[in-house]
Amino acid sequence: MSAIKVRPLADDLPFGARITGVTQANSTDGDVRAEINAVFEDRGMIVFEDMEPSNAMQVALSKVFGELEGHALSDVPMADDHVPGMTDFDYQDVFEVDGKEVSGWIPWHIDACYAEKLNRGGILRAITISPEGGMTGFADGIQLYKAIDPALRDRFEDLNIVYHSFLMFHNLKFGRPKSYNGIKVRQMITDMVEATRNVPRSVHPAIWTRATGEKVLHVSPWQAAGIEGMETPEGDALLEELIAEMNAKMATYFHTWRPTDMVIWDNWRFMHSASGNPPQYPRRMQRTTIKGDYGLGRLEIPGSVAPIGVDV
Ligand SMILES: [Fe+2]
Repeated sequence: MSAIKVRPLADDLPFGARITGVTQANSTDGDVRAEINAVFEDRGMIVFEDMEPSNAMQVALSKVFGELEGHALSDVPMADDHVPGMTDFDYQDVFEVDGKEVSGWIPWHIDACYAEKLNRGGILRAITISPEGGMTGFADGIQLYKAIDPALRDRFEDLNIVYHSFLMFHNLKFGRPKSYNGIKVRQMITDMVEATRNVPRSVHPAIWTRATGEKVLHVSPWQAAGIEGMETPEGDALLEELIAEMNAKMATYFHTWRPTDMVIWDNWRFMHSASGNPPQYPRRMQRTTIKGDYGLGRLEIPGSVAPIGVDV
């Protein structure tokens, strides 16, 4: 009998799984690793429950999926000097989104879409949990590909999306709330965004086909600059139309955190978001990133220096 227990994330969702029973000791077992990786490939995101809430467990779990990656931007706070690339975000900044003041609101995105290489995924853990809000949302590109209007989808079949790390936070260009303003933004966040103003842009396909055959609609509103070769009012309107259709048709899962949860998502397939929380409550998350690349991204100008950016 397997050491771990796997069950679906939810009865009404075509993606996601919940796994219990993973420990530091059994995470190095070949059979356990193979079982977890098969679930990951099939279901695209996993909520690991009843985990030991430690950096060592988070790293051990990450290594089930591959090697850890450092973070692209050196100013990003790190959780642990001994864990390369374990980022620590405390989401103190306050933004007004459609008339409501929130901390930690991040719209749908793909991590590091501004870069040429797309990391394999992230493993998130909550360090400080807000008593209200503070959920992490997940949406599956395979589900989206099947669900959106086929006529609109056909138009994007061979199109590429240009991304620029500068287009984040209040510089967001696509899928922008009607009202979105910084209320209390730390200088380090302003400086991090400013540092990306002139960095090279990346290009990724809007739709790609996995080795297993499924097509994935993979578009990040956060950091999107436009459609490659169509950065015109008409092209921008087409991309806004796609994003509105994605928002209308996506099946979402919003995770409410417990201290013993760890969640991984497939960054080649999923978008994720953060719901935001009332500014009076602190919220702190810690993430490891799994190295990898799907091989379909590139820099807009070949041979440019690697872009820097902020994965949130
Ligand atoms: Fe993210």
